[in-house]
Amino acid sequence: MKILSAKNYEEMSMIAARMITEKVEADPKAVLGFATGGTPKGTYEKLVAAFKKGAVTFQQVTTFNLDEYVGLPPEHPNSYHTYMNEQLFNETNIPVGQRFIPNGLASDLQSEAADYEKQIQAHDGIDLQLLGIGKNGHIGFNEPGTVFTQRTHRVALTPSTRKANARYFESMAEVPTHALTMGIQTILESKEILLLAAGRHKAEAVYRLITGQQPDEQFPASSLYSHPNLTLIADEEALSLATTHDRSHFS
Ligand code: F6R
Repeated sequence: MKILSAKNYEEMSMIAARMITEKVEADPKAVLGFATGGTPKGTYEKLVAAFKKGAVTFQQVTTFNLDEYVGLPPEHPNSYHTYMNEQLFNETNIPVGQRFIPNGLASDLQSEAADYEKQIQAHDGIDLQLLGIGKNGHIGFNEPGTVFTQRTHRVALTPSTRKANARYFESMAEVPTHALTMGIQTILESKEILLLAAGRHKAEAVYRLITGQQPDEQFPASSLYSHPNLTLIADEEALSLATTHDRSHFS
């Protein structure tokens, strides 16, 4: 794991956006894996700005999102389809047919999950996957206890994740109870991973990630230790519990 320390959220977003645009410049047909949530919003904002300036085009890229809630129609204001449309897709030129997000309304969620995996494989896998991290170490919606060999599947959301996401809904009762998510195995097969973390509320998770060393299914992000091309981009607050000594064995 490589660690890039950013001054703040703004700088973290700038670094991540630059790494994504460099990837697309080097390989205009890159397959990009995207995340939702608060953390990558600044990155998307910067990608949109770069596109509008004419500094990058996304005409040939393909994108796969990590996850989607079960039971929310794509046009629901809190669906991850809507999030991606608002944060990135409506503002850039990624063709509609080249954007993939799990369909949380599928009548057969198991075959939807299997089809999603097939699509990823048909595109020769994900070149660059963007990830956030939950306070409990979840990645995608892979909660503590998830088997690391799992591929795209339906999950029950833990009370803590539902609570964290309740800020986007009118009431707790409206927060979906299930989601479809890429599995940890799917994520690990991405050729490169950018894991973003910002804010004091992520400091415990980042500390555990940096100091943990041993993969532990109770802390899903620890599955990433085995990944050969992982970069953690974290701001000073997220890194505040990890001393220079803790970080010293990473480049
Ligand atoms: C989002 C996702 C989640 C988030 C995580 C952190 O697609 O899969 O794992 O990355 O919950 O969320 P934020 O960024 O809102 O703190």
